[in-house]
Amino acid sequence: MQNYAFNMHTLPVGSQPSYRIGVLGASGYSGRELCALILGHPQFSLHFATAHSQKGSTLRVRAAGRVHDVPLIGPDEADLAGADLVFAALPHGASAEWVAKAIAAGTRVVDLSSDLRPGHGGVTHALPDGVPHDAPYGMPELFRSSVQGARVVANPGCYATSILVALAPLAKAGLIAPGSTVSIASASGVSGAGVTPKFEYMFAEVAENFRAYGVGNSHRHLFEMRDTMQKLGSDCDLLFTPHLLAVDRGILSTITVPLSRPLTDALEPFRAAYANEPFVELTTSLPALADVQHRNVVRIGAVLPSGMRQPTLLVFSAIDNLVKGAAGQAVQNANLMLGLDEIAGLQQ
Ligand SMILES: NC(=O)c1ccc[n+]([C@@H]2O[C@H](COP(=O)([O-])OP(=O)(O)OC[C@H]3O[C@@H](n4cnc5c(N)ncnc54)[C@H](OP(=O)(O)O)[C@@H]3O)[C@@H](O)[C@H]2O)c1
Repeated sequence: MQNYAFNMHTLPVGSQPSYRIGVLGASGYSGRELCALILGHPQFSLHFATAHSQKGSTLRVRAAGRVHDVPLIGPDEADLAGADLVFAALPHGASAEWVAKAIAAGTRVVDLSSDLRPGHGGVTHALPDGVPHDAPYGMPELFRSSVQGARVVANPGCYATSILVALAPLAKAGLIAPGSTVSIASASGVSGAGVTPKFEYMFAEVAENFRAYGVGNSHRHLFEMRDTMQKLGSDCDLLFTPHLLAVDRGILSTITVPLSRPLTDALEPFRAAYANEPFVELTTSLPALADVQHRNVVRIGAVLPSGMRQPTLLVFSAIDNLVKGAAGQAVQNANLMLGLDEIAGLQQ
């Protein structure tokens, strides 16, 4: 059994780790972030960390004021049954198989891929036996009660998090004009593409550059976004254009919303909706990536543009794609699944 109990070195005096947590895909960008959050969490210990091509190597993780050397094992060697909860931070398609194995071993799972999300990222083939088709969608600000106590949760996509948290109050209040098109331009840092080397993400291709990709509504996050907007009561079309930004981490989404009625205060729909949310920040200025990097927050600003015949709202939403867009939200979900304080280990 691999229980490295790294947290033992960093715990506050008198406290003990209560939950053994495994990370599948720990050598990836989301997996590394998960390891750091687990090592800094007051009630988690890192039970195992897996890699695929990098198995057998050691991952250096900076957490709780020191650098930890974390051995990376193959997923076949992972003690799934001995973990209380497993994070699956694996590529789409590869993840569902490991989620099935973790469920069969009796372990709770937070899956970071699109395999279990609503719409399954547009993939239509069947999930392995034992994997639920309707796992709770782990966006606590919208669906907290379905995550609390759940054994399997689908962690949302990074773009979807930045966009849905911004649109949800408007959809719930009937403020999005029926039958309208909501236009979204999002820019993401390069870590959003994962750790596998690809030509288009090489330094000389990305640096000093800015471009759109996945144009024409072809991004896989549209499936979970459309499904969620329908659940929230909006029939709008989403026109989503992602862009690649030459920074390490962060997503800024600029969202143009045709309104069903005029507003006098651009932030008014968000104030009531998010008054008690620990991880949503509203700003009367505009959110920026520097405000949210390394933090588990969605930071939202809004403006009523002038010169428009139709009432329109511009919403700006910034997140760290690896934290609120991936590992941080996954820990938030794990806390809820295990009955812990939702903010435990996430106060950056
Ligand atoms: N990056 C983001 O901003 C972000 C945000 C939200 C959600 N996500 C989702 O979270 C998941 C992980 O994303 P990521 O960007 O962290 O990915 P990544 O950097 O590409 O890492 C993938 C991880 O999975 C391992 N792996 C690859 N193929 C495998 C296989 N066949 N079997 C077992 N392990 C395998 C890799 O190991 P080796 O490196 O050793 O080969 C690595 O540890 C993806 O589904 C992604 O869509 C990513």
